[in-house]
Amino acid sequence: MVVDRITCLLVESDQEAVRQIDNLCRKISSIDVRWKTSSLETGIEIIRKHHPEMAIVSLGPNPSSTIESISAITREFPGLYLMALSDIAEAGLILNVMRAGANDFLNKPVKEIDLRAAAEKVFNLKSTQRESRGDGGKIISVFSNKGGNGITTIAANLSDAVVRYHNKKTVIVDLVLSHGDLSMFFNISPSYSIMDLAKNSAKADYEFLHSLLVKHSSGVYILAEPPMIEDAEEITAVMVREVLSALRSMFDIIIVDTPHQFDERTLTALEMSDIILLVTLLNIPSLKNTLKCLDLFDRLGMRDDRLRLVISRYLASDEIPKEKIEGILKMAVTCTIPNDYPTVISSVNRGKLLREIAPEKEVTRSFRHLADLLLGPSTVRQPVVVDRKPGFLGRLFPSERSSK
Ligand SMILES: Nc1ncnc2c1ncn2[C@@H]1O[C@H](COP(=O)(O)OP(=O)(O)OP(=O)(O)O)[C@@H](O)[C@H]1O
Ligand SMILES: [Mg+2]
Repeated sequence: MVVDRITCLLVESDQEAVRQIDNLCRKISSIDVRWKTSSLETGIEIIRKHHPEMAIVSLGPNPSSTIESISAITREFPGLYLMALSDIAEAGLILNVMRAGANDFLNKPVKEIDLRAAAEKVFNLKSTQRESRGDGGKIISVFSNKGGNGITTIAANLSDAVVRYHNKKTVIVDLVLSHGDLSMFFNISPSYSIMDLAKNSAKADYEFLHSLLVKHSSGVYILAEPPMIEDAEEITAVMVREVLSALRSMFDIIIVDTPHQFDERTLTALEMSDIILLVTLLNIPSLKNTLKCLDLFDRLGMRDDRLRLVISRYLASDEIPKEKIEGILKMAVTCTIPNDYPTVISSVNRGKLLREIAPEKEVTRSFRHLADLLLGPSTVRQPVVVDRKPGFLGRLFPSERSSK
């Protein structure tokens, strides 16, 4: 998804003002002054034809007739963010402009802070509209109400598969705020964390928001947990909502590594999710917990088609057959992640993704399969791996071959 800028029309005959506003918009980068005209009639035609998101309309030498036109424009285009521009900041004039339905009043020379504030308002309006339309990126939360089930392993390697095989702009969020370990899985040292994004999520400046994320060599962006345990407490459910909404407007896919407690922050993330991967193991304690979790989802009205069951560390020879589990949990198993402790622990200890150290292992392939199940067939072609019999070198160094 290309990060969009606010498209803006400027109606002004004073060339000095046009240059000044143009320069400011270039500087703050989130406003794209795409149309400029000195005539209000032409401006109205542009609004009808191109639907800009923002318009800066100079009141010109005859403010009262321009205010009448502004009133007509705001009635016809209620979604347009219109700002009146004038070199007179007289209270009566401002009042008339606002009564005509303008969203804001700018005094010449326009100040950077005022344009930034306007961009922020338009951005917030746009993301609220997106959120209510369910538009924007897809949130996939990986959840289990029991620790150690492989949540982080699944979140990290799924995000890699989504980028690699589906070419989606993807961010992974560490919501395990007090003891997250995504940075370790990706072997990164982030300078910023979810705390910084939470404090700045209302800003319209996408470049700035991007600078708070780390881009891993796989292409996955990472939003890390706060560096200090005490900071975790400061992050509220409202902040989680704001952070996820901001990321939704910046990314195709947002993968969330969630904590195991059902606190308000976790529930906010789950509630906002398009897909919830509920992860369980094929053993009695884990299944008992999953049953409890499903019961809670039922009571919260969250047991719906967003919920997918994933069995982690799966062994086909397990005593409890997969089919039996589906009967007990009254839910189909979407995907199984094979049990392969040596490979997984080696990837964690080396701070590498499974694909980087063991691309041909079944456990690694299962993440591509999971990505395909969630997003549809892969769009990116990969070379076919031909499983040849080992040649001379292969026979001499079998371990080199199997480690690929
Ligand atoms: N598919 C797998 N096969 C074998 N072992 C695995 C697999 N997935 C994860 N593990 C192992 O299970 C342990 C926990 O994995 P992980 O950290 O991903 O789980 P988690 O649910 O995020 O745990 P936590 O509760 O600590 O956040 C690790 O030691 C990891 O190596
Ligand atoms: Mg974890």
